[in-house]
Amino acid sequence: MPDAAAVAAVSCRGLTKNYGRGEASVAALRGVDLDVARGEVVMLMGPSGCGKTTLLSIIAALLDADAGRCAIGGTDTAGMTRTARATLRAAKLGFVFQAFNLLPALTARENASVPLLLAGVARRAAEAAAENALAEVGLADRRDYFPRQLSGGQQQRVAIARAIVHPPDLLLCDEPTSALDHDAGHQVMAVLTSRVRSLGAALLVVTHDPRIAPFADRVIRMEDGAIVADDGRVAA
Ligand SMILES: Nc1ncnc2c1ncn2[C@@H]1O[C@H](COP(=O)(O)OP(=O)(O)OP(=O)(O)O)[C@@H](O)[C@H]1O
Ligand SMILES: [Mg+2]
Repeated sequence: MPDAAAVAAVSCRGLTKNYGRGEASVAALRGVDLDVARGEVVMLMGPSGCGKTTLLSIIAALLDADAGRCAIGGTDTAGMTRTARATLRAAKLGFVFQAFNLLPALTARENASVPLLLAGVARRAAEAAAENALAEVGLADRRDYFPRQLSGGQQQRVAIARAIVHPPDLLLCDEPTSALDHDAGHQVMAVLTSRVRSLGAALLVVTHDPRIAPFADRVIRMEDGAIVADDGRVAA
């Protein structure tokens, strides 16, 4: 068994992914290698359609690659059953989706408590933790609101609270500040990065937002399904 501290939070090798078949086929990933260390904050940038969400979805074991391998905390996800993947996600991952994916029939507090409920935490404790997470992203006063009663930026912050409500080993965030103004975006990145660093977890954040760069240890650039630049800075 390798030393736990030496195991990468994420390790991907040779990932390829095509959508569709024949002439309509789109090569979304063309052989991606990526390592993210524990405690590291990595920013992934690139033009629309270059494959960023596809890569995050494969890392989160929500989507299968056509070829290549991907491991989270040393565990290869390719051979896992659906149930094992769901268990791994519930235990280790926080995911902020590009489209937020809040459940419309649940309040902010209930939405933010979902990962804990899935992990078997009692409702009262889960909702208390959800309240704390909502407070961290500046939404304590909106905890009983439904998503339709919240602005886009507020919904985005509920999605972020849901991702940090349990202590994840790995946080995957797809455009987490796209609907936020400068102050809210700054607050969210400060919460995410301090949470990740204090836990020794890792954060992989997809963004078009250059304001996020100062929070990152490393910036990776993707184009047309491949990583074309990696500024090489490594977390201290
Ligand atoms: N379910 C799908 N079926 C077919 N093609 C898809 C599907 N999902 C993504 N694609 C295609 O794969 C490519 C990569 O998409 P992806 O969503 O990963 O891009 P992205 O970098 O996240 O873009 P954006 O910055 O706009 O979110 C695009 O050309 C897209 O049209
Ligand atoms: Mg995307």
